[in-house]
Amino acid sequence: MRHIAILTSGGDAPGMNAAIRAATREALARAVQVSGIQHGFAGLLGKNTIPLTARAVGGIIQRGGTMLGSARCDRFRTEEGVREGAEALRMLGIEGLVVIGGNGSQAGAMRLANEGIPVVGVASTIDNDLCGSDITIGVDTALNIALEAIDRLRVTASSHRRAFVVEVMGRDCGYLALMAGLAGGAETVVIPEVPTTPEEVANALRAAYDRGKTHALAVVAEGAATSAVVLEQYFLENKHRLAFELRATTLGHVQRGGTPGAFDRILATRLGSAAADALLDGKTTVLAGWQGGRVTLTPHHEIVGRTKQPAREVLDLLHRLAQ
Ligand code: F6P
Repeated sequence: MRHIAILTSGGDAPGMNAAIRAATREALARAVQVSGIQHGFAGLLGKNTIPLTARAVGGIIQRGGTMLGSARCDRFRTEEGVREGAEALRMLGIEGLVVIGGNGSQAGAMRLANEGIPVVGVASTIDNDLCGSDITIGVDTALNIALEAIDRLRVTASSHRRAFVVEVMGRDCGYLALMAGLAGGAETVVIPEVPTTPEEVANALRAAYDRGKTHALAVVAEGAATSAVVLEQYFLENKHRLAFELRATTLGHVQRGGTPGAFDRILATRLGSAAADALLDGKTTVLAGWQGGRVTLTPHHEIVGRTKQPAREVLDLLHRLAQ
């Protein structure tokens, strides 16, 4: 291969820039030309490319977001869209592609591979729901941002003897909520994978006060049916019976835009570099991920369309420790 391209797709994740830098410089070290495709698969359809030189990817390792831009592209879910994308790559003289992103992005990568384009994915999403990687780029930084918010809310919760609920991102996966709750010492966590009623949350918070705690905190995943909004409404309607107030904070996109921490920079660098190497070595239609303490390449067909489940025993542990 003489010319490859890199794109970032789906939700941005802290560390994506470190992965772009590593993949670019690894390929340049092997005397291969590198282009960056702007704004994900949408940019591919518009043939929006920029040259990625060693200097172009300088000074980005510490920056959140993605210097290439990202997008969600409905057209790329259609057969015509994917064919158009493959044709665009051929017209641009691009012989292989590194796709940095989560589930939807890796599905797009596999569709391109089915059109004869050599692709390698890089596991990157704050949701940590992607199979083929124990942890994905951006998770650690997003978790630390959620934790900072939780720690601050605990201070106010103690001052006012109020209960707080914090809603974190994660789409349909409870990983972020579960780990933020575990690290933040929450009383309970509500995740989509374990149906929980508002009354169960109220009981957990009530029990914390009864044990003499000055604060009571619940973390909920955005994908859970008992969301922060539902809980707030429930507490309002049952104010007299529950006899304590609940305040809700939804963290939302605040979690995605952080400065990548050391863990994410290192993970992204290892995965970005491995992806470029794999592509140039002809090991394609695989996802570069991190499993069992090392970089792994997992075939796309084994990971696309599947999602990882957070460990149920972690929720049990959290509840045992919330004494
Ligand atoms: O996949 C990352 C993520 O932040 C999810 O946690 C969230 O549900 C979704 O993206 C939000 O998407 P958007 O930025 O398109 O609103």
